[in-house]
Amino acid sequence: MAPEITILAIESSCDDTSAAVICDGFVLSNLIANQAVHKAYGGVVPELASRAHQANIVPVVDQALARAGKRADEVSAVAFTRGPGLLGSLLVGTSFAKGFALARNIPLIAVNHLQAHVMSHFAMEHGRDNRIPQFPFLCLLVSGGHTQLIIIRDHLSMELIGNTIDDAAGEAFDKCAKVMGLPYPGGPVIDKLAAEGNPDAFRFAKPRIQGLNFSFSGLKTSFLYFLRDRVAEDPGFIEKNLNDLAASLQKTITEILIAKLLRASKETGIREIGIAGGVSANAGLRRAATREAEKRGWNIFLPELRYTTDNAAMIGITGYYKYLRSDFTDHSVIPLARIDT
Ligand code: KG4
Ligand code: ZN
Repeated sequence: MAPEITILAIESSCDDTSAAVICDGFVLSNLIANQAVHKAYGGVVPELASRAHQANIVPVVDQALARAGKRADEVSAVAFTRGPGLLGSLLVGTSFAKGFALARNIPLIAVNHLQAHVMSHFAMEHGRDNRIPQFPFLCLLVSGGHTQLIIIRDHLSMELIGNTIDDAAGEAFDKCAKVMGLPYPGGPVIDKLAAEGNPDAFRFAKPRIQGLNFSFSGLKTSFLYFLRDRVAEDPGFIEKNLNDLAASLQKTITEILIAKLLRASKETGIREIGIAGGVSANAGLRRAATREAEKRGWNIFLPELRYTTDNAAMIGITGYYKYLRSDFTDHSVIPLARIDT
């Protein structure tokens, strides 16, 4: 029998410190320490994020190993997020991974955070029916920093076919939430409020962008002006209409995303389709994707909620497939705040 391949994975690109243990492609543990410290500031403060990563990383890794029932000397390789993300945050994960790999004399694997979000679809768990996409697979990646359409030809071969020309979908949720006075991150708050609201109460203009690209900055501006005018007439407008505003905004963002996904499926002929990234946790988007799949005969993949927002399991899954190809990096590797795909 071939020896087990055990990957310790570290994710520290933004404000969550996460560690996971992946064994032969199965997730054994996936720990996430959220950083409450940013709440008071209405957004992530980079300096505070790196400091919190520094405090969290050792206990989070210890717990990930303990939950997986693995000792440090059983780890075959360490995978870490190289970027994109906040540089100070990435540095903490990168340095930890280097130290661990050096101490145990095991390979180091650098992972692209965006590729990892897509790879969350290949995360398997014991005791579960693991449905996994076939290739070629078309993925809508919607996060706080990115909105992309990607064709996945095999585990590590991805082609970008659509991208946002300005804001990301998650940013649209977060910025519009801020305008309504809601806490950060706004996406999950809007999702919750939208459940009790009427999605047809208000209409917001949708962008007309050619091809498979996206734009969300116009929506944010029109939402801002719409509220400014209504609040001028009635200062209590936002409070009185919070649920309807959230539901209408969520519907607009969802329709923009689904329209492009549909177009991409038609243009590529791919019907093996998934969504990934933080915004793929959104209930409205998941419903709309499921509806569209029924209508179009798509084989749709919606990641478990724990694999939508930032997590180390997705880094470990990507790391596992890189390990199989001996795609290792040396210790001169440095994190990258931006990676142009
Ligand atoms: O993938 P992610 O955790 O981090 C990045 O790589 O950016 O995505 C974070 C983004 C934030 O903009 C957050 O508001 C959004 O995902 N998000 C949601 C939901 N949960 C997280 N947006 C809409 N509905 C949600 N349920
Ligand atoms: Zn992410």
